[in-house]
Amino acid sequence: MTKRAIQFLTPHHDNVGDNAQAWMIKNILSVFFGNNILSFQLPDTENGLRQVKPDDYIFLGSGGYLGDLWPRGEQLRRKIIRECKNNIIVSFPQSVHFDNLNEIKESYDAYKSHSNLYLSTRDPESYILAKYYFPDCNIFQMPDPVFAFSHNSNYKRDKILCIFRNDKEDYLKTKKEDLIKIIKSKGFEIDIIDTEQHSDINRKPIENMDVNFPNYLDNISKYKCVVTDRFHGTIFSAITGTPCYALPTIDHKVTSCVYWHKQFNTKLEVYTSTEAFDKYLDKIPEPFCYNKSKAFSIYTKIISSIISNNKLNLNEINLVQETIDNRRTIRKWKATKIPNNVINDIIHTGVNAPSGANSQCVRFKPIIDSIVLNKFYEFHKYKKDYPPLIILVGYDFGVKGTINYNRNNKNWEVLKYQDVAASIENMLLYCESVGLACCWLSYLLPNYQEFLTSIGIKDDNIEYFSGVAIGVPQIGSNEIKHNDRYVIRQSIEYYIR
Ligand SMILES: Cc1cc2nc3c(=O)[nH]c(=O)nc-3n(C[C@H](O)[C@H](O)[C@H](O)COP(=O)(O)O)c2cc1C
Repeated sequence: MTKRAIQFLTPHHDNVGDNAQAWMIKNILSVFFGNNILSFQLPDTENGLRQVKPDDYIFLGSGGYLGDLWPRGEQLRRKIIRECKNNIIVSFPQSVHFDNLNEIKESYDAYKSHSNLYLSTRDPESYILAKYYFPDCNIFQMPDPVFAFSHNSNYKRDKILCIFRNDKEDYLKTKKEDLIKIIKSKGFEIDIIDTEQHSDINRKPIENMDVNFPNYLDNISKYKCVVTDRFHGTIFSAITGTPCYALPTIDHKVTSCVYWHKQFNTKLEVYTSTEAFDKYLDKIPEPFCYNKSKAFSIYTKIISSIISNNKLNLNEINLVQETIDNRRTIRKWKATKIPNNVINDIIHTGVNAPSGANSQCVRFKPIIDSIVLNKFYEFHKYKKDYPPLIILVGYDFGVKGTINYNRNNKNWEVLKYQDVAASIENMLLYCESVGLACCWLSYLLPNYQEFLTSIGIKDDNIEYFSGVAIGVPQIGSNEIKHNDRYVIRQSIEYYIR
């Protein structure tokens, strides 16, 4: 029998942002559950709870109410978690805000009582708070579901839209009047709305959104830029390709959503001062084309992982963590040649590593010539095999204006090792992420520089002392041990001093 999804805590109020989230979540769930979805608005939670069967998957709505700022939602979340002990529960991304210690304790007790509960947050600050308040819980980050939608249009955009809140989360209050004056002083026409005021969407949330939400977004697409202190004001701007200027609210809710905007390449600027706002208006960025697929795939990955494993493996969700955990040195390669564009992709990740004093002096020399590669093989007698590509990594002492120019700063010369190491690690992780086998190569033998000169690699300024061997892995090659010395990594406590 096909399993059911139960969607709890959908809104009963007329906030477009909240309704857009519930609607989008339902759309995403329908990819997996078809019509087997029951949705319950907040006031209908008791009724919903009576209908839950043990093998239903439960999904709690996303929004800004994990905490005591909007207590009704949090109270119902606790109730659902307490009463549905046998179901997998995923709480879709929330902003976290608690003022009251007793409320944290209440939520802590409720969450702790459930063994298959997964709580997500929608910004880094909320993530840290949730990890701190609920250390025993499965907590992860995901984008707001509305990021998984997009709306394209070709309107001429002249006016500026202000989406301003006017409730207890309002922070700038009368200062917003100053911003409006500045906009007008620049000659822009201006419209002012709030996400609370769209009466068409009122009270029949999800059903009406199929038509009303694209219409709502269509209107936003007519503006040159959006100025907003509404969390979803920033997202509606993003998904319509509209540049956005975000204003702070009483806490991190709006400002820390920058993280996802950056991930999804939107054009978001955050308020720092009225002077900065003034300057922004003189150079408003161009509209852009928003790509919803990144956010959508995060949702589908999470839901498919739950359905196939009956639990959520949090390591699988964070691709970077997964790549780091999976990477192991591999020293057996196929002869398959690595094309230039792949080599460039790898070096790109090395170039993007941090560098001490931002000197950016790390240099890369790809070697693909089989005769030269063979000479490396000869040089390293202990090697069993040779890769189709070695990228030598070195440090350039010849860049004027950098800290190690002309090697005249002995105290800082250690940066060369650190910078090169940072670049190499980036390349190793990138190679892992695309399935290439790698081995870090250190060239410590005293005659190494002579060896390089003998094969025609000589540069007065660049010192090559490290590198990476790269290739398509041979089957079973990751079993190989290093000098029979294979250290099993211990628990984190072992390493922390
Ligand atoms: C600075 C550094 C230098 C290394 N040099 C070599 C090398 O010259 N040859 C080699 O086979 N492996 C080299 N390695 C790879 C290590 O042996 C390998 O990372 C270690 O055995 C742990 O295995 P893992 O990478 O699978 O975690 C080097 C690693 C580092 C960090």
